Amino acid sequence: MQHLTETQQFDKEALRKLFELATSLEGKRDESLKGKILASLFYAPSTRTRLSFESAMMRLGGNVLSMENASESSSSMKGETIEDTIRIIDDYADAIVLRHFEVGTAERAAAVSEVPIINAGDGTGQHPTQAFLDLYTIQREIGRTDNFRIAFVGNLAYYRAARSLAYLLAKYDNVRMTFVSAPELRMKDDVKDYLKEKNVRFEETEDLEGTMRVADVVYQTRVAEEWIPNHDEYEKLRGKYVITRPMTDIMKEGAIIIHPLPRAGEIAPEVDDSPHAVYFKQAAYGVLVRMAILKTILGGA
Ligand code: CP
Repeated sequence: MQHLTETQQFDKEALRKLFELATSLEGKRDESLKGKILASLFYAPSTRTRLSFESAMMRLGGNVLSMENASESSSSMKGETIEDTIRIIDDYADAIVLRHFEVGTAERAAAVSEVPIINAGDGTGQHPTQAFLDLYTIQREIGRTDNFRIAFVGNLAYYRAARSLAYLLAKYDNVRMTFVSAPELRMKDDVKDYLKEKNVRFEETEDLEGTMRVADVVYQTRVAEEWIPNHDEYEKLRGKYVITRPMTDIMKEGAIIIHPLPRAGEIAPEVDDSPHAVYFKQAAYGVLVRMAILKTILGGA
């Protein structure tokens, strides 16, 4: 694996191996990446992605160079391009985890980097490592990655992790997708065209409760204020799809609710102790999946 910029690059066999490795790393620490350096370069806010990558690297004996808030603390403030920044950092580190607010930045970085670039979210583009850990969570919690129904809910137009997972699931057998959103936040055509090309069954609806009754996986998203062009529109949309505790009673036995987090009101706190709620476990699985990614990329596997 050289760069990891979008989920379409991966096939089922590569993911099967990655997940097997992730599971084997549960509860483990080793020194397999001793002497290796990971640079985490974040131009946009993050809690889970940056810290879980750094934790993963440290659990494997590696070292971390961390630049949070790079929009303000890096030399981009002096006009340095992302290409020049990457050409510098690739001499300092063995891999670079990059989050940026502009779509396509990971590809631009990969085009010039001598070391692997891992896309940790590029604007409203993709967030592939999140999609991997979402799928890993599905495998762990419902026991399969084929033959299930998934409902993507809320902000499908701007939510890069949902876009990445939809692209990824197109590789699996008999995964039926339902996109539940207000008309303003519908899944974009690039994803829908890809699904049509791959003969994936999907439908669009505004009916959350009807969809929750039949879904094996409910993937809730945040109506991210930072991506909605108009504040009044954000206020109108943000309370439209809130999952409450009574709504979980209509879910199938064994069905799960996942969410990449952070949440901002779209899952009520009383849902957290429902047996269907696995989103905090999902965040914890992120460390295992990112350990497996780092071992695969940096040669410790
Ligand atoms: N899920 C996710 O990407 O979270 P952070 O923004 O906290 O990294």
